[in-house]
Amino acid sequence: MKLERVLPYVKTLLRSSVSPGDIVIDGTAGNGHDTLFLAELVGSTGHVYAFDVQQTAIDSTLLRVAKWKESVSVIHAGHESISNYVSKEISAAVFNLGYLPGANHSIITQPHTTIEAIETCLNLLKLNGLIILVVYHGHEGGAEERDVLLNYVSSLPQSFVHVLKYEFLNQQNHPPFVLVIEKMKSQR
Ligand SMILES: C[S@@+](CC[C@H](N)C(=O)[O-])C[C@H]1O[C@@H](n2cnc3c(N)ncnc32)[C@H](O)[C@@H]1O
Repeated sequence: MKLERVLPYVKTLLRSSVSPGDIVIDGTAGNGHDTLFLAELVGSTGHVYAFDVQQTAIDSTLLRVAKWKESVSVIHAGHESISNYVSKEISAAVFNLGYLPGANHSIITQPHTTIEAIETCLNLLKLNGLIILVVYHGHEGGAEERDVLLNYVSSLPQSFVHVLKYEFLNQQNHPPFVLVIEKMKSQR
């Protein structure tokens, strides 16, 4: 057996939790890789809402998902405003935290807006739906976001959500890890 690396593991989780016709969120569109993967999973009967604060990310994502333009909304806004755009039940949300490779490294996700977005996604999420966070923490500001997030997810009630951390412990240079939140009950 080969242990799945972090990014393939995220894809496995998304494949197992997203079906054709579903509504899903990409909270950090970036270059649009996850947005495209989600678009292929939900197909023409589903919908992907993808958010980013940078015009360059919006442009790259729009290009990447050109074939799926009917079923993808690429929104130039922070994920803290998800509730202004999405009101239907979602089956999954994915966030890749940190900065956009190849772009301005000072534009990074921030702990408090990330948590605001998670809270909104928790309200929208169906039972057994997943919120998946890929936590990059080697950059300036990354350790702070990691610690605030770990504190927040660890404090969520066990009867309401299950929280998993998937992490390789003996790799160099602050490798990213995955946090997965599974909704178990509709109310906390
Ligand atoms: C690690 S990159 C995402 C990579 C992306 N998943 C991909 O496939 O290329 C993080 C992204 O988060 C975006 N970002 C930062 N703050 C944000 C916010 N408040 N809301 C939405 N996106 C944000 C950045 O602009 C950047 O594009």
